[in-house]
Amino acid sequence: MPLTHHRASDYSYPIREIVDIANLVSPHISLPIRWENIGDPVSRGHKMPEWMLDLICKTLPEATGYCPTRGVEKTREFLANQHNREPGPTIQAKDILFFNGLGDAIASLMTVLSPNVRMILPEPGYPSYSTLEALRCEHRSIHYELLASNDWQVDLDDLENKLKNHPEIRLLLLLQPSNPLGTLMSLKTMQGLAELARKYSLIVISDEIYREHVFEPEEFVSWQAVSEDLPSILLKGISKDLPWPGARCGWMEFINCQHSEELTELQKVLEKKKMLEVCATTLPQLVIPKLFSDPRLLPWYEESNRFYARRQKLVQDVFLSVPGVQVIQAQAAFYTSVLIPSIPLCDLIHPPFTPELNLVLANTWKTASSDTRFCLWLLIQTGICLVPLSSFGGRLQGFRMTVLQKDEALFELLLNDLKSSLKQAQLLKAA
Ligand SMILES: Cc1ncc(COP(=O)(O)O)c(C=O)c1O
Repeated sequence: MPLTHHRASDYSYPIREIVDIANLVSPHISLPIRWENIGDPVSRGHKMPEWMLDLICKTLPEATGYCPTRGVEKTREFLANQHNREPGPTIQAKDILFFNGLGDAIASLMTVLSPNVRMILPEPGYPSYSTLEALRCEHRSIHYELLASNDWQVDLDDLENKLKNHPEIRLLLLLQPSNPLGTLMSLKTMQGLAELARKYSLIVISDEIYREHVFEPEEFVSWQAVSEDLPSILLKGISKDLPWPGARCGWMEFINCQHSEELTELQKVLEKKKMLEVCATTLPQLVIPKLFSDPRLLPWYEESNRFYARRQKLVQDVFLSVPGVQVIQAQAAFYTSVLIPSIPLCDLIHPPFTPELNLVLANTWKTASSDTRFCLWLLIQTGICLVPLSSFGGRLQGFRMTVLQKDEALFELLLNDLKSSLKQAQLLKAA
């Protein structure tokens, strides 16, 4: 009798699984690994500004204890006030619940939902959702599509068809901005989603973790702006807002509980679950009001976003001359997705490397998708570690890279190495 309900292989988080593979490969290649897989600015040379560090250090002495289960009251009040400055339904401090990072919030939500109700997810999308949804329901996750022909907006007809065919869908997940694509939903799309949410009585979960990283002239539209009286949860956190993902701090904002007994109950269940875990991390909660009300924060966001936008543009420019690839124009976040519709090397039954490497990779290669094989080949040729695009779900083939590398020369070298490898791979395909 197995001890666990699921097997380890049922848990899939490709953004970090590739790290294990890269570490296995590393002793066999004479190249340093370039970690372009994880959205962590700190790992790509970004330093926390002195003023932020100073505020955190000064707060530490008062942050060594537990905090209340639902979160630090003053911080919840502060965040409720921030929320209420934006258009849409207002909330109170009681409508906010803290977690140890948004990853914890997602896992907690997926744990408490009944297996009889389904959450429909965007495809491609952040893999934690699809993995946890599939584990929770013992069925493949259900997805709606983003349309390449319409600026990666939600295919509302596809979504409505799925809602008609699956009355068990009770929750709709939005990723605004999208990870992996870095694209944004327009106001029109959001209004269309609101109509469907109303028509099919859905609870909307809007993951807005990249909300502060939107590039000019684009504007971020929060679900809050269109939600009216629809019961919804906004997911927010500091992992991407601040160069401090290790703080592990995220929270849920429950909106329109007064219109939904279901949402009220869901909030209570999540609060009770958090109580069993005592509480979330205290230090970041105590620092949030200080950091978020500091006049230096906005200019820092603006500077960071200009940096990410410049990097995105550079990727576009460099890959323009590479045949067979298409770079998705990101409007937000710090990733670039590169589509390679016809992937070279994908048909090889056995890995095409040295005998030792082939042995190390034999199992991984056997079941790997075409773009995973391409990413493995790239890793071995160049030491560059990327995430295959197919691992975010859907039919797209290619890779997602970060545009975080702080050092200009290293970033240019990275792009040039990628460009030559892509060209080399096309030649291999042609041969
Ligand atoms: C869309 C999305 N949601 C949630 C998370 C998890 O964030 P956290 O670091 O707060 O757990 C991530 C992390 O990359 C993400 O991309």
